[in-house]
Amino acid sequence: MAEIRKNYLSYNQIHKTIKKLSKEILSSGYNADVIVAIGTGGFIPARILKTFINKPIYTVGLSYYDENNNPKDEPVKIQWIDEVETKLEGRKILLVDEVDDSRITLEYCLRELLSHNPSEIAVAVLHNKRKLKEGVIPDEVSHYFAGEELDDSWICYPWDAVDIDEQERMATGS
Ligand code: G4P
Ligand code: MG
Repeated sequence: MAEIRKNYLSYNQIHKTIKKLSKEILSSGYNADVIVAIGTGGFIPARILKTFINKPIYTVGLSYYDENNNPKDEPVKIQWIDEVETKLEGRKILLVDEVDDSRITLEYCLRELLSHNPSEIAVAVLHNKRKLKEGVIPDEVSHYFAGEELDDSWICYPWDAVDIDEQERMATGS
């Protein structure tokens, strides 16, 4: 099997991508009431986004792979929002995740959130991989924002790094 190309990123690069992403969101006129972060990859991007778009963050946890790394039939909720109806009904949601890959988790999460009748829902991902998607963004979603469009390689995020100095070297070449 061909080796999958790896794309290392630093916290600094990610922070700048999110700042740019937040400008796009704000200039689109989409004024969210709440941010919903998909864990765990969406946690740090959502927190950085809050520096530029200061809204409360709710978090959800979904798992699509089993303990042997095989996909399940559909994503499973491992954590969800308490008193979800009162928090989402009639609200403008900005759903945040780190990467749009197969789109399966994203679609599942969007449909679950839509079932609680938000007034509007938009998606912001740090990275979108250019590839054939298995999931679809439902028509009700009013905006789709991606910080960067990337090839279908494996993105190595700094929060997964065991050696952050090595991560930094791989990301910046210094
Ligand atoms: P999608 O709807 O957002 O496209 O998600 P999909 O189900 O395809 O993603 C499955 C998991 O694979 C997600 O993590 C996602 O973060 C992770 N993933 C996909 N591509 C990459 C990549 O290039 N690099 C890294 N580091 N992760 C990637 P998860 O299983 O939900 O767990 P978590 O890591 O977010 O906790
Ligand atoms: Mg994720």
